[in-house]
Amino acid sequence: MSDCDTAAVRNNNPATNSHRVPLDCCGGLNNVDYSKMDLTLMEELRKHVDFRDSSFCIAVIAIVFNPLFWNVVARWEHRTRTISRFFGGPHLACYCLGFVIVLLNVYRSHSVTVAMKAQARWDVMDGTGVFYTGVALMVLGTLLVVSSFLALGFTGTFLGDYFGILMDEKVSGFPFNITENPMYWGSTANYLGLALIGASPVGLVLTAIVAVAYKVALRFEGPFTEQIYQERSQRSK
Ligand SMILES: *[C@@H]1O[C@H](CO)[C@@H](O)[C@H](O)[C@H]1NC(C)=O
Repeated sequence: MSDCDTAAVRNNNPATNSHRVPLDCCGGLNNVDYSKMDLTLMEELRKHVDFRDSSFCIAVIAIVFNPLFWNVVARWEHRTRTISRFFGGPHLACYCLGFVIVLLNVYRSHSVTVAMKAQARWDVMDGTGVFYTGVALMVLGTLLVVSSFLALGFTGTFLGDYFGILMDEKVSGFPFNITENPMYWGSTANYLGLALIGASPVGLVLTAIVAVAYKVALRFEGPFTEQIYQERSQRSK
């Protein structure tokens, strides 16, 4: 278990090291050395987060497991049609997988909340400004998640294309005209908001891990979805 914390800490180091460039950028800002600020922020975070705490490790596993699970299962379905055959059709199969994904996401949010409650608040984050920024982020995040769900529908949101349930055309209206992946960035904004509202340093670290997990998932999902739609357009020619 204690391995996941050292990995998380180690991953932060290259970013901080790469900032060692001569400072001639910050004259207008009282010559504030932002690279040093970054470094102290990292060190402060490290001091305020217990990476060995089991609730932290469980939350990390839940965060990493979810996108891994739905990508592996959806690709397996796309290759073999096993789930569709089991449920007697792609629609019911997709609804069932969607339901499991929702449950997993509820568990992920729960485990993040447990980890935040298990660890100390951070006094520098304890302020009304931070609190209301958190509230605003949660409103924005919920808006993005709900509006993209309404735009995509259930099967569009929950990997329907892997089941052969394709959308007629790419959804390009709100919120997809703001960001390409409003569901993921909305969800990330929700976690960041939660961390700010709870003045929780461990919440910040877990939010960063959520963002990285989504970024990695998108690397796999983007090209695959494109390929599925390309196959259809080739077939219809
Ligand atoms: C996105 O679409 C919505 C609704 O159609 C519109 O109100 C909004 O201005 C658009 N935003 C951008 C950045 O194009």
